[in-house]
Amino acid sequence: MTKINIGLFGFGCVGQGFHEILTDKNDPNFHIKKIVVKNENKPRSAPKELFSVDAEDIFNDGDINLIVELIDDAEKAFELVKRALVREIPVISANKKMIAAHLEELNEFQEKYNVPFLYEGAVCGSVPILQTLENYYQNDHIKEIRGIFNGSTNYILSKVLNENLSYESALKSAQELGFAETDPTLDVGGFDPSYKLAILIKHAFGISFNPNHVIRFGIDQLSTTLLDYAKANGLKVKLIARSAIKNGQLSAMVVPHLVSEADEEFSIENEFNSVTIKTEYSGNQLLVGKGAGKLPTGLAVYNDLKNLSKGFRYEYKESLASLSDDVFTVFIKYE
Ligand code: HSE
Repeated sequence: MTKINIGLFGFGCVGQGFHEILTDKNDPNFHIKKIVVKNENKPRSAPKELFSVDAEDIFNDGDINLIVELIDDAEKAFELVKRALVREIPVISANKKMIAAHLEELNEFQEKYNVPFLYEGAVCGSVPILQTLENYYQNDHIKEIRGIFNGSTNYILSKVLNENLSYESALKSAQELGFAETDPTLDVGGFDPSYKLAILIKHAFGISFNPNHVIRFGIDQLSTTLLDYAKANGLKVKLIARSAIKNGQLSAMVVPHLVSEADEEFSIENEFNSVTIKTEYSGNQLLVGKGAGKLPTGLAVYNDLKNLSKGFRYEYKESLASLSDDVFTVFIKYE
């Protein structure tokens, strides 16, 4: 195997988790050559000489043959990823906002330059949903995909409903634990799970779906009356993302639901995520795992590295329609 010399962009929660796992595994085939960050002088858990603030230190290094992009800024991330793919350098990213917004273009680059781009860490942390859709469901007919795609909001709802914590302290705790986005509005407003849903729609249904077209209500709009009602009636409130195809119509929404013990999501607590896949041949399947955090997401990135080194790349489901999402009528059906 050719030795993989990695240029890493970003050393936040996920970057540190990825570095920690890479160090633990100590695989001689993988080596981080340079880490580009915004602030070179912060204390770091990796050797100081690895850090730089100049992206050119990665792009001008001819030995670097893989880029791992783990920065916060979606548009900057897109520029970096595009630049790498055009140079035929494989890329791993966990930037759901960037991927959801540019998936079509990123696909074109993958094809045009025949270069892999993997992003398991972008969707539901340690839940191996993209690999599962790619490996297992290529030959099945997916009817619906739904679940809890955001760890922070699930953590907040769990703490508020089960431990009577205030919304504010639960949010603060989700931030301290590294679950929340730098701008937590992306979590509590339901934007983050909309990005993940749009990515899953591409892999499950073969349709490029604009994340801004997902019907979205955040948990920041929940009333205390609803939370009290849930508590009094043995129910829970969960921020559920779901997309289904029915009669040629695609629905896509991220909406808080009242769930009972009969629902799969009832027992999914704290930062755990779940994905239920409803299909024609295999019936319903449920995947559950930690959806946020340094090591769970760091592992998803490390797994992409291993898979990429074995030649794995996404094939994407054959498109159900060559039409863009705006020709589909969005419907909401409460069941
Ligand atoms: N803020 C995200 C979440 C991180 O809470 O799920 C993982 O994507």
